[in-house]
Amino acid sequence: MSIASQTERVIIFDTTLRDGEQSPGATLNVEEKLAIAHQLALLGVDVIEAGFAVASPGDFQAVKSIAEQVGISGGPIICSLARAIRQDIQAAAEALKPAAHSRIHTMISTSDIHLKYQLKKSRSEVLAIAEEMIAYAKSFVDDVEFSPMDASRTEREFLYQVLKVAIAAGATTINIPDTVGYCTPKEMGNLIQGIRENVPNIEQVILSVHTQNDLGLATANALAAIEYGVRQVECTINGIGERAGNAALEEIVMALQVRKPFFNPYFGRSVDSETPLTNIKTQEIYKTSSLVSQLTGMLIQPNKAIVGANAFAHESGIHQDGIIKHRETYEIMEAAAIGLPENRIVLGKHSGRNAFRTRLKELGFDLNEADLNKAFNRFKEVADKKKEISDWDLEAIARDEMQIQ
Ligand code: KIV
Repeated sequence: MSIASQTERVIIFDTTLRDGEQSPGATLNVEEKLAIAHQLALLGVDVIEAGFAVASPGDFQAVKSIAEQVGISGGPIICSLARAIRQDIQAAAEALKPAAHSRIHTMISTSDIHLKYQLKKSRSEVLAIAEEMIAYAKSFVDDVEFSPMDASRTEREFLYQVLKVAIAAGATTINIPDTVGYCTPKEMGNLIQGIRENVPNIEQVILSVHTQNDLGLATANALAAIEYGVRQVECTINGIGERAGNAALEEIVMALQVRKPFFNPYFGRSVDSETPLTNIKTQEIYKTSSLVSQLTGMLIQPNKAIVGANAFAHESGIHQDGIIKHRETYEIMEAAAIGLPENRIVLGKHSGRNAFRTRLKELGFDLNEADLNKAFNRFKEVADKKKEISDWDLEAIARDEMQIQ
């Protein structure tokens, strides 16, 4: 695939099986990783970061099995993370051998705080290591991604220098990590713009971002980066990952779909172009989200955008009334778009008469006006005592009013 054709859309780099698995308690075994990888391929992600091959024998085996079984011709690129260390790169290259398309993702920290306290190396040492290890990774695979870790807190001139050297050494994707989720969307935009203006060879490669969610800005930062020319985003299913997690794949993809007219011009397209901005089959989102939640044991908060249990649920009477009259009054996307059969009208104390009557009709109760009024009053009394009213509660109320035994 040429770089030019890749830049016509956003490349979805899924790191659920690497950064996502770094969520405390989310450890997956080889079979579980394989099951998720198969589902990610069905979802249509472009790159699967399958793990960190050197991290453990289990992770090596997981990368290898995914490379064998999911990394088939025409399938996604299979990637392994590797520090800019020979042993890591060798392990990644070995595990990735069976894949039809493989990528080594190598990284080294570049911010002064990481250099001083963690790496205990000078800037010139880091520059030399990055250059040497990218060339070394390139001796195994054509597709090499480089990440200057903590890029958003790296002094800009040094960052530009590292990136220039990395591209000259053979990196084909340059990924900009906001490792500690420190950026605001505007700063992210400026960071990407600065790189594009000051790294002359940057247009030869795919520019990518990896946004962490420490301030709850991961998705906003990824979208801002796209506006400034980034064409790969690193993300995870349900936004899982180290600390507060990563940008959520489903949020980025659905934002690009629902707001396509807003994003289209950034891709040189007319506002109303219908061509999708990613390769993701959005109808597979809900299934993938559930599988990841089930296998990692990471529960999804009910109000989580796109995949939370309440994302397509309506409780307030005003909203329910609107939805019954026309779905788009209170919904910007259809539940079916992510693979859910339908939205959900939740009956509770905020619900109105229209939603109540509609649900009773669906349950087979066609009450006359007087009975309906009495039933509705009774329903409100019950709703004050319970968080959610079940169909059984409704049936009991309707039967009472209709005096059916
Ligand atoms: O958060 C981070 O900086 C990373 C890099 C390896 C991309 O996970």
